[in-house]
Amino acid sequence: MASALINVPKKAKRGDIIEVKTLMSHIMETGYRHTAGGEVVPRDIITSFTCRYNGVEIFRADLFPAIAANPFISFFTVATESGKFDFEWIGDRGFAETASASITVECMLWALDGETLWNSKAGASGRACADCHQDARASMKGVAARYPAFDKTLGRPVNLEQRINLCRTEHQQGSPLPYESRDLLALTAFVAQQSRGTAIVAGADPQLEPFVAKGRKLFMLRQGQLNLACANCHDDNWDKRLAGSAVTQAHPTGYPLYRLEWQSLGSLQRRLRSCISGIRAQPYDYGAPELVELELCCSSVTAL
Ligand code: HEC
Ligand code: HEC
Repeated sequence: MASALINVPKKAKRGDIIEVKTLMSHIMETGYRHTAGGEVVPRDIITSFTCRYNGVEIFRADLFPAIAANPFISFFTVATESGKFDFEWIGDRGFAETASASITVECMLWALDGETLWNSKAGASGRACADCHQDARASMKGVAARYPAFDKTLGRPVNLEQRINLCRTEHQQGSPLPYESRDLLALTAFVAQQSRGTAIVAGADPQLEPFVAKGRKLFMLRQGQLNLACANCHDDNWDKRLAGSAVTQAHPTGYPLYRLEWQSLGSLQRRLRSCISGIRAQPYDYGAPELVELELCCSSVTAL
């Protein structure tokens, strides 16, 4: 009797690359051998193997006579969501076998990583975020909902990632974490998590007024080869869909967030840069004042 051995990790973090290993017991008779009496032994091989992840085909292989008995197939994929892998082997003489394996994918692990970083000493100061801010559940409650916020020293707004990096450089005497790096996203997610359920109030500070206005102006500005403004989609067509996605009113809630398309957590600036590339315009660099102003514009609309 045919039987399959499957090896899939039971648990993974969202975005992890995981290895899937399969072995199907099967003689794989090539069809080129002869019996002692000179007759050809009929071919009996597995001809195809497929794997579906929650119904979507992610791997397929065609098999040929040169493949040894009990074919072992392994491949890598990205753990995107909890669910099931379904495997199917089809072969000569009506051979058809299936097997399945399930996986649990955890995305809150990003925030857990952030909590570990929160408690880790860093930089020349040898101090952890927790050494100054203690328990984030109390000290960071509602903070993310106020960002981008006005920074007195710089005289301009900074977003949450930039604020965290200011603490890295000024208070920990360390180097800033690169935009979209795992550590910066994890720390931001952990800080932002403490504002879950809090209404966004960014932009309310009167010192931010000119920056909100600049952001709004950019929001209305037609740009790119498609000559579209953010407002053309997000104000004029927010009730419609674009290539299967809801257009939305550009409320920047819940960032950084996980997108299947990114196979990772991503920041609000990453989202804004995708919208800008989408209209075939050159996106501003991560951390550019224009992106912070756009963040502010979207947050303050939400705050109205
Ligand atoms: C040596 C003390 C110290 C350390 C270490 C430190 N911070 Fe801060 N942090 C401050 C101070 C002081 C402020 C207030 C703004 C200022 O004066 O720079 C602040 C402000 C903040 C704010 C903004 C709070 C608000 O209400 O707007 C955030 C968010 C923050 N820190 C996150 C972090 C994170 C994340 C870390 C670790 C990577 C960290 N901080 C490490 C001292 C520190
Ligand atoms: C061609 C239409 C279009 C234009 C122009 C456009 N966007 Fe978007 N935007 C989208 C779509 C569609 C989504 C939702 C994508 C998704 O979730 O899959 C989106 C998502 C967003 C989000 C996230 C909203 C959420 O619910 O998470 C923000 C914020 C945003 N856009 C801001 C902007 C800004 C700022 C500009 C101008 C620089 C802009 N967009 C230009 C179509 C557009």
